Amino acid sequence: MSISKAVNSKVTSQNTIEERLQIQRLVEATKVVTSTAGTDVVRGLTQASKTLPAYYFYDDRGSELFEEICELPEYYLTRTETAILQKYASEIAKITGSCELVELGSGSSTKTRILLDAYQHLGYPLHYLPIDVSAGMLENSARQLLVDYPKLQVYALAGTYEMALAQLPATQLPSRMIGFIGSSLGNLNAQECDIFFSQITNALQPGEYFLLGIDLHKSKEILEPAYNDSQGVTAAFNINILEHLNRRFEGNFDTTQFEHWSFYNETERRIEMHLRSLRSQTVQLKALNLTVNFAAGESILTEISRKFDLKQIQQQLTARGLVPVHTWTDSNQWFGLLLCQLQG
Ligand code: AVJ
Repeated sequence: MSISKAVNSKVTSQNTIEERLQIQRLVEATKVVTSTAGTDVVRGLTQASKTLPAYYFYDDRGSELFEEICELPEYYLTRTETAILQKYASEIAKITGSCELVELGSGSSTKTRILLDAYQHLGYPLHYLPIDVSAGMLENSARQLLVDYPKLQVYALAGTYEMALAQLPATQLPSRMIGFIGSSLGNLNAQECDIFFSQITNALQPGEYFLLGIDLHKSKEILEPAYNDSQGVTAAFNINILEHLNRRFEGNFDTTQFEHWSFYNETERRIEMHLRSLRSQTVQLKALNLTVNFAAGESILTEISRKFDLKQIQQQLTARGLVPVHTWTDSNQWFGLLLCQLQG
């Protein structure tokens, strides 16, 4: 079905899921990813301080483990953000009015339901554009949503944020809101963050919205257990990146010879997650033609998770033309939700 047909056809509860679902695979994005696949791994593992790009966490197993992390007692982030959304979703919907909801890294779309409920309650049409690199995850969550919201229309984009933001279809509703919740922004360093914000401003029209969820700076005593839980789920999530690399690039990482190591770097205000080599060892990734030597105790930085200051991020967004129109937080000030509007 063509895009325009779906949009023009009158939507009633009789419309089938097939009629309300469109999935676009961003082919160019996929090609780019395939042809350059692994170059970022080579780059990261051949540096003096070894690193890996955090998106390699999210193979099927990694995505499952991340869903488990979200439920851990120590991992306050998901619970706190969900509570803020539950409390203020209707306020958000009232401020933006009828708008299309675009979501970056939609994953299981659990928190999205809170927003959809709010727009539905106000009688607005529900248009949802989830964006995710995992086409499988994207389709499954979309289908589930379409069952639960009989008037919802989904236009899913399978690809990287960058490609999707560069090719968002024209809005069918009066406005648009790009949601980037869950504090995924924390994975980006300052420079990547700047590039990301310009991709957002390029994708929006003046007056349109950007909803950002960020984890805030707090004491080490709360932060560190969230990334080193007692059940070892975060450790398994971290180690799984090596299994993913083994499978994807014909590697021979011995996962028993690396340990999960995470801490809060107070100066940089970020959690650092590392994998530390338990002994001196050599690892090969055949498909990448890569041999990597590890000294005993040497580590790979697998993730940064920055913890933000509300005032600072508000200033940074404002400087970028993304003016915060409202900021919500929880009673502990642990998590922030910012609704920003692109300046005219
Ligand atoms: C999905 C990037 C927000 O940084 O808290 C959770 C990922 N890593 N536990 C985070 C993660 C370890 C998570 N983000």
